[in-house]
Amino acid sequence: MYLKHLSLANFRNYARLELDLSPGIILVQGENAQGKTNLLEAIYYLATARSPHATTDRELINWLAEEEDLTFARLVGEIQKDDTLQRLEITLLKEPAREADGRSLKKQIRINGVPRRVLDLIGQLNVVLFMPQDIDLVAGSPSRRRRYLDTTICQFDPRYCRTLRRYSRVLTQRNHLLRQLQERRSSPDQLRFWDEKLAEDGAHVVARRREVVAELEELARAIHLELTGQDEHLSLRYEPSIRMPDKYYQIPLGLGSEGRLGIRYSESSIRESFLEQLREITREEIQRGMSLIGPHRDDLRFLAGGVDMRIYGSRGQQRTVVLALKLAEAKLLAEETGEQPIVLLDEVMSELDEARRRYLMKAIKNSQQAILTTTHWDAYSPDFLNRATLLRVQEGRIEKMTNEPMTNDQ
Ligand SMILES: Nc1ncnc2c1ncn2[C@@H]1O[C@H](COP(=O)(O)OP(=O)(O)OP(=O)(O)O)[C@@H](O)[C@H]1O
Ligand SMILES: [Mg+2]
Repeated sequence: MYLKHLSLANFRNYARLELDLSPGIILVQGENAQGKTNLLEAIYYLATARSPHATTDRELINWLAEEEDLTFARLVGEIQKDDTLQRLEITLLKEPAREADGRSLKKQIRINGVPRRVLDLIGQLNVVLFMPQDIDLVAGSPSRRRRYLDTTICQFDPRYCRTLRRYSRVLTQRNHLLRQLQERRSSPDQLRFWDEKLAEDGAHVVARRREVVAELEELARAIHLELTGQDEHLSLRYEPSIRMPDKYYQIPLGLGSEGRLGIRYSESSIRESFLEQLREITREEIQRGMSLIGPHRDDLRFLAGGVDMRIYGSRGQQRTVVLALKLAEAKLLAEETGEQPIVLLDEVMSELDEARRRYLMKAIKNSQQAILTTTHWDAYSPDFLNRATLLRVQEGRIEKMTNEPMTNDQ
């Protein structure tokens, strides 16, 4: 798939943008603070209905538009998939009446003109985004890693996404009840009902995350070996906060895994184990007034050559892990959906050494569409510049460059 046309209204520093895009490699050049990251963010937002970093949707609306009567931002993408053209539209509308409660933003979604839910949008446009800040996938907090896993899985697994949403709602309700119990304003009998629900959905989330992590590991491991010159074996460990069941079965891992075996648990056995532990810790949960175990407390670890990259990894090592992970994610998405995702790379070349750059260039060569940003044209070879579509962004306006002058300059 590829993005054929993007229009933005009042999105960040793009007051108005109408941009035709071609398949293949697109390089966007601009000085600092001109709108490179914002452009990639817009595309990512069309795919996932959320900003790549934990910012509020409010920040996405153009500041100047804030002063108008009807404040809104709109993103429209036309996606070419085989021979069908699909139109995705997100409108963020600020509702003046409910301004006081701080949650006055309304998100409207349309697919081919028909109003839809967020869940229907996710998976229509698949993207893999890689930005310098992504290093905090390895170095940052567990919630960052959970968010990464969830967004990735949601792109190809709608059932997971629905279950996850339900899980968060149940979690909120259960936490509410636990606080009431803490203040002795409710009876513990009700808790069992929420335990069942939490364990049911939680088991699915844990099982699915484990499976996907195993698949990502297989793919990332091979890429990481190439990136590090066959030097470091990468492992990804999903670390659940619940005790996993005693019973498991072994399954052969995917291609290229040299006959390694992975461990799998049945969802029902995870559920049982989860429930059992919830009973064990009831008293503590009531005392603290919150749910202490479950996928909302899980983490993911990255080991390179057996060393935990979050604690001991150098910046370069952490960056390499993230790069391997993102390229693995692109492969996984392609396998799961049968469509090549759009690859979005924000300013990444400048941070990589020569060998890693070369690998990345090779890896994106076959993507149906890859959009890269840079502050300097000369970070790229003349050969690369000749093959790419070149765009320049300046104060939220984008113009197309001709390739000719570039080659003359070299
Ligand atoms: N809601 C908003 N309304 C208007 N402008 C905004 C909004 N949010 C961010 N901006 C501005 O948009 C400009 C472009 O930001 P962006 O992050 O896209 O720059 P960039 O080209 O990626 O720069 P850099 O090379 O520094 O990464 C910044 O000056 C930023 O302050
Ligand atoms: Mg930027």
